[in-house]
Amino acid sequence: MDNKENKQIILTGDRPTGRLHLGHYVGSLKRRVELQNSRKFDEINILIADDQALTDNADNPGKIRDNIINVVLDYLSVGLDPEKTTICVQSQLPALHALTFYYMNLVSTARLSRNPTVKAEIAMRGFADEGLPAGFFAYPVSQAADITAFDATVVPVGEDQLPMIEQTREIVEKFNRTYGETLVLPQAMIPENETQRRLPGVDGKAKMSKSLGNCIYLSDDAKTIKKQVNGKMFTDPTHLRIEDPGHTEGNVVFTYLDAFATDEDFSLFLPEYANLEELKAHYRRGGLGDGTCKKFLISVLDKNLSPIREERAKWAADIDSVYDIIKAGTEKAREKTNATLARVQKAMRIDYFKDRSIIGEWKDLLK
Ligand code: TRP
Repeated sequence: MDNKENKQIILTGDRPTGRLHLGHYVGSLKRRVELQNSRKFDEINILIADDQALTDNADNPGKIRDNIINVVLDYLSVGLDPEKTTICVQSQLPALHALTFYYMNLVSTARLSRNPTVKAEIAMRGFADEGLPAGFFAYPVSQAADITAFDATVVPVGEDQLPMIEQTREIVEKFNRTYGETLVLPQAMIPENETQRRLPGVDGKAKMSKSLGNCIYLSDDAKTIKKQVNGKMFTDPTHLRIEDPGHTEGNVVFTYLDAFATDEDFSLFLPEYANLEELKAHYRRGGLGDGTCKKFLISVLDKNLSPIREERAKWAADIDSVYDIIKAGTEKAREKTNATLARVQKAMRIDYFKDRSIIGEWKDLLK
């Protein structure tokens, strides 16, 4: 079913396990801000998925607690506006736990075992040897609860999350078939182009990841950005002398320029070239040094990140307000998710104490 008023509702989220980096920025945050400002959606909800983060950090709730504030500061500093976007904390929404418990009965363990993203994560975390926490194994079910509790129609996520949305859709269909039309069928919205899909780490490895030390964080200062670019971005090994022809494909400096550099940046920082195509052409011909390209990239990244950094510093100096923002967002979300839970319990006819109508039913039964 659609939600009652045919509303366009967005729900997305992040596990608060670390500060957000440029990969998150090009892959999701930038788009969330665009969606927010497009005003095409009736509701935008962002869930800080601390319960999901606990499924593989049960021994370290302090880490999750610390990173809730980091992630919220990252959200606010990129321009997510609490007036337009509801930011809420998963663990404080008890309806999500109840929904998860009901949905668990609509999914087989065999089906959960086939989820390719979870499979990869299990291997990466060494759970195959250590023992797999049941909560981690089942987190796609809790994600289905997240999505359906908000009546989300659209779920903007990275490609790795497609199996979760597929799983959610199956649960919705099964629920509606079993108990009557109750839940909204959501759709995934994935990044449009290759750059958004996966910004490589500064070392050129496929993905930015904390453990590889190849990230540029949104909160990094100018000095750190410079250090990461100059120190870790590899240069074309066939481009030893400036006169040698170079390669721009698979060259991480150019991948980043593809993601960030605009024509305006050229007129600001490198007016010898009109645009990235001209710069690339020169690099390929030979005669253009890596240092020039890196220096330009550092300016471009800093131009993108300095307003974010400033905004972050402002919010960081006012944590009381940040606290109030997520508290208010969570209260709003609590109402919404409780309403969905009530609808679900009603559909399942397990809303025993809602009114006294079951008394008549029980009396009839005992006649
Ligand atoms: N699994 C998501 C991730 O790791 C985070 C998440 C939790 C989420 N609940 C969600 C994303 C609901 C979209 C919708 O990035």
